[in-house]
Amino acid sequence: MAGDMAGADAQADPIRTIALNNGRLMPQVGLGTWPLDDSEVEGAIVVAAGLGYRHIDTGEAYGNEVGVGRGIRASGVPRDEFFVSTKLDGKYQGGDRAVQGLEGCLARMRLEYVDLLLIHWPLPLLGEYVSTWRSYERLLADGLTTAIGVSNFSPAHLTNLIAQTEVIPAVNQVQIGPQVSRPDYLAFHEEHGIVTTAWSPLGGNGLLDDPIVARIAAEHDVSAAQVVLRWHTQQGIAVIPKSTRPERLAENRDVFDFDLTPEDFRAMKALEGTVDAVDPDVDGH
Ligand code: A2P
Repeated sequence: MAGDMAGADAQADPIRTIALNNGRLMPQVGLGTWPLDDSEVEGAIVVAAGLGYRHIDTGEAYGNEVGVGRGIRASGVPRDEFFVSTKLDGKYQGGDRAVQGLEGCLARMRLEYVDLLLIHWPLPLLGEYVSTWRSYERLLADGLTTAIGVSNFSPAHLTNLIAQTEVIPAVNQVQIGPQVSRPDYLAFHEEHGIVTTAWSPLGGNGLLDDPIVARIAAEHDVSAAQVVLRWHTQQGIAVIPKSTRPERLAENRDVFDFDLTPEDFRAMKALEGTVDAVDPDVDGH
């Protein structure tokens, strides 16, 4: 079974960990893998692992789980030092479809377990996320995943889920950043001990070229990407930026040795609304 990340040479590890609500530790910076294909993701994981990354995020819908498994094995890092997260989308909601779904993920990655299994989207119009969660609870009890969580759930979806099930989600992976700051989500997650992970944390739509971000980056002598990732990590949010370029992977990892000031956070509020926010009530697949 998976080892405790704290044992994994914590001193040499440049990436901080966050404790999940079941005691598992998750590195706060992970490697996002969408939309990499099998061969791209395999190479990215080898490079990232060499730079100290141990958290890899994929999803059944990304179609790259074979490459994720290959990358993990090719990295030379023992499996139990990795934190591997995957997600199942709407095809696997309802009944016991999640059981077959996870078995497929594990077969493609050639792993015995994942560290975190997420419901990819709530799809409330389908009306199956509560029954799906009960399957996830069984997969957790059976040791096929060491933690279970959700993605793109609103506080209302989480309230409904928590009221009807036993295990509180360890993680909600959502769109969150200076452009879509979702303070209601952060407050709800904090109240319930749920870790927030940001997908596409670099935000898109010109965020890295924004003059406010550029000014703050110059003041701290860091890159625009590091300013944006520090916006997350300083608030306790985990991030999974995707890159295949070694210099960017290194940059995205090094976001713990400077702090944004309260004034920096205030200035970045001007970015709110500069990208379309997903709507968890209707979006997803
Ligand atoms: P590339 O893969 O060519 O490095 P996100 O994970 O937030 O969706 O962001 C991914 C996008 O951001 C990709 O286009 C990626 O390009 C780019 N990217 C990743 N890291 C950096 C960085 N440190 N600086 C600039 N662009 C980056």
